Parts: sequence; structure tokens; C-alpha cells
Amino acid sequence: MPHNAQAPFPITRFRRTRQSAQIRALVQENTLTVGDLIWPVFVRDGEGVVEPVNSMPGVNRLSVDKIVEAAREAADLGIPAICLFPYTDPSLKTATCEEAWNPNNLSNRASRAIKDAGIEIAIMSDVALDPYNSMGHDGFVVDGKILNDETVDALVKQAVEQARNGVDIIGPSDMMDGRIGAIRQALEAEGHKDTMILSYAAKYASAFYGPFRDAVGASGALKGDKTTYQMNPGNSDEALRLIERDLSEGADMVMVKPGMPYLDICRRVKDGFGVPTYAYQVSGEYAMIQAAAQNGWIDGHKAMLESLLCFKRAGCDGILTYFAPAVARHLQGA
Ligand code: PBG
Repeated sequence: MPHNAQAPFPITRFRRTRQSAQIRALVQENTLTVGDLIWPVFVRDGEGVVEPVNSMPGVNRLSVDKIVEAAREAADLGIPAICLFPYTDPSLKTATCEEAWNPNNLSNRASRAIKDAGIEIAIMSDVALDPYNSMGHDGFVVDGKILNDETVDALVKQAVEQARNGVDIIGPSDMMDGRIGAIRQALEAEGHKDTMILSYAAKYASAFYGPFRDAVGASGALKGDKTTYQMNPGNSDEALRLIERDLSEGADMVMVKPGMPYLDICRRVKDGFGVPTYAYQVSGEYAMIQAAAQNGWIDGHKAMLESLLCFKRAGCDGILTYFAPAVARHLQGA
């Protein structure tokens, strides 16, 4: 603020409202709470298995019994939802991806086990063919092309099977056109009227998914990249058109993914539609923070909290983050 003749002092001293922790708390516009968190977890075969994911320090692949324990711990911490990702044995991956709608695949077994244990946590699942596809893509590959409509038919089978096995929030992450409407129709037809759809509506073709593909064992299988179905990072108007389309087809909630480099998209979506809006702080974002922290280059704890608060400032109602249990423990003072 400039000095002037009337008031030879800064008219507004912003530093007044920053002078102590108490005053800073009073004027804080946005806050992160446990209720904002969705925890993505990796399921694998076996019993009693806790297998570290090398590229994601602090993250493990868990067998179904351990997933149940993790879900109970998350529920006790007040985390509202857990999101299941399967690490599928390579022998079960085919070009026709039948394992995706097998009622006894890892994801379905894990959601049944969580429900059977009576744990009060919402279960979210991923709808896409990549964990089951010998070609590593989210859709069927024929002659080097990813087929849209044939893939949608398969995604419908996958989503309905997930709903039958207790999933509360279906998360189509495949980026095929028309899948939200097709899934919604099939869910209604089978009486799954309360099953929600959180559409990965604005999902970008991103280098930040690298560690995830390692975690689910898809990096080896993937030939080429996903740029013919995931979005171009240079686009933003297109994200709004995708959100509008998915809402019109019956999505209850929408997601922007990745998170940190795409906060401008989160803000545009929230301002433009006013719908429940989520961001996915993806594996590469998590890995960057953890790696820098392990090297002593940043304070990992502070970076974690700051990065998540910024999603709230950008308009998100919640965040999918691998930090969920660590953040929840911090917020609960545990
Ligand atoms: C698969 C899927 C991906 C992620 C969530 N679902 C990877 C991809 O699209 O290749 C990425 C999550 C992360 O990086 O944490 N459809």
C-alpha cells in the first residue's frame, strides 16, 4: 500500500492478520479435514501379504485380509472412502480381459470382504480394463487401435459386477466416450439405484501415472501411450465439455486427474458446475514429495499438508491421495 498525505502509513496492513497462529486460524479461508479424503489402495493375492511398492515409499500392496484391516483403520480414522486397485497376476491378463468382470477377481473379493466385515466406509472402485489387459490399455486393442464401443460394453459388465459385490462409488477411469450413460442405465436396470458414479471426467494423458503402473503391474504390458483416449495436457475448455457430458449421462461426482499441475481445471469445474468435484493426487505426485523428503530436500510432512490444502483452495470437495492415512492421523492429533 502506498503512503499518502492523509495517512502516512500503509492503509491496510495485511500483516496484522498474520501476526499469530490464533489470528491466522481465524482468517483462514479453506481447511483440510478428514472428511475430504479418499484413500487409494492396492490389492494383491495371498494372505498376510504387505508388499512395498518401490516407486511409492510408504505404500504397500495388500492381500484381501490386510485390505480389510486397512479399511477398518481408515474407518476408525474417519476417512470416508477407500478406492480399490488390483494388482492382477500376469497369467490372468488376456486381450479379451474377462477377468475384469469375474465376480471373484481381486477387486470384487476385496469389496465383499470389507462389506462382510461390517466396516463403515464407502468403497470406490476403478472401472477400466488395464489391470486385466495383456495389452496394458484401458480398452480393447485391435490392430493397434483402442476400440471405444466394444470397450464400453465390457466396462458395463465390469461396473455392474462391482455394484453386485458391494461397491458404493463406481469410478470409470477409462476415458471411453459414452461409458457413463451406459453404466448408469445398466445399474438402474438391475436395481442398483443408489450406486454412485464418480467419473474420471477430466483425465489427462500424464507422465505422473508412472509409479501407479508399477504398483498394479501394468507398466510392462503397456505398448505405446494413452493419448488417443486420455486428454491433452494443453487443453482446458475440453475438460469442461467432458464434465458437462458426463453429468448429463448421470455422473454424481466428477474428478480431475492428475491433481497438482491441474488446479486451474479444478477451479474452472467447480465454478462452472458447482457439483461435487474431486482431484486425484496421483502416484507421481506422491512419489515426488516422498523422494524429495527422503533426500532431505523438502519437509515431507509440511509439503503433504500444503499440497492437500491447496486442492481445497482450488475448489475441490475432496482428494484421492495416498497420503490419506498419514494426513488423517495428523488431523486427529494421533
Ligand atoms: C487406470 C488408472 C490409472 C490411474 C488410476 N486408474 C493409470 C492410467 O491411466 O494409466 C493412475 C493413478 C495414479 O497414478 O496414482 N485406468
